[in-house]
Amino acid sequence: MPDIVIPRHLAVIMDGNGRWAERRHRPRMIGHRAGARAVNVCIDFCLQRGIEVLTLFAFSSENWKRPEEEVGALMKLFLNALEREVDELHRRGVRVRFIGERERFAAPIRERMAAAEALTAGNARLTLAIAASYGGRQDIAAAARALAAEVAGGRLRVEDIDEAAVDARTALADLPAPDLFIRTGGDHRISNFLLWQLAYTELWFTETLWPDLDASVLQQALDDFAGRERRFGLTGAQLAQNREGTPA
Ligand code: IPE
Ligand code: IPE
Ligand code: MG
Repeated sequence: MPDIVIPRHLAVIMDGNGRWAERRHRPRMIGHRAGARAVNVCIDFCLQRGIEVLTLFAFSSENWKRPEEEVGALMKLFLNALEREVDELHRRGVRVRFIGERERFAAPIRERMAAAEALTAGNARLTLAIAASYGGRQDIAAAARALAAEVAGGRLRVEDIDEAAVDARTALADLPAPDLFIRTGGDHRISNFLLWQLAYTELWFTETLWPDLDASVLQQALDDFAGRERRFGLTGAQLAQNREGTPA
């Protein structure tokens, strides 16, 4: 049987909700609601394929600057989703966690985030990381701040600050780095998602708007991923040698 290369960690920018609604001459919020359904499609797919980690970009640090009405409606949707979906996720063996500046959310949302994490902490089938009020630059800045505080407190020496030390203080440090990144909605950019963590991630983009997501789109991404050669800076010949078990 041929090897099927399944990404361990899938990271997704769920983009295109607003345009999906605008094309239907409906308010943007209708698109966000439809987008919430697509989240379940994506989680189901990961569970079926045995993907270990799914990171979803739900709300960026910059999205706070959207019109107040849209931000308010998104917060309501977020709160409803937390109330509605967490028990089912728990039943299905999903471990939920949140990354981002959670202090920016109102208390009821923060409380439900903490409760969801506590309830599902022991699950191991799929880790679902939800990036909410998240920014890649903010993540790296927080790591730098943590390192500086440790140096100032005498717990860390400047010369011990290396890539591993920074990595350990960024979000998702305990998980494998994303293997595959998917962005829906047709734009080819990272939009301040996991900047540090995506260093060697394979990138895949689709015109499909997030609310139109189905398993066949995700399968296309996986098929494309399976055909790629990830070289991590080495040569193709070195990789072939490594596969044969001989040292490069
Ligand atoms: C992504 O869809 C959801 C969030 C950023 C919260 P958008 O709302 O960005 O949809 P488009 O890109 O405007 O179509
Ligand atoms: C990225 O989408 C953030 C999320 C999907 C949560 P945006 O719609 O905010 O990104 P830009 O503005 O098109 O770069
Ligand atoms: Mg967008």
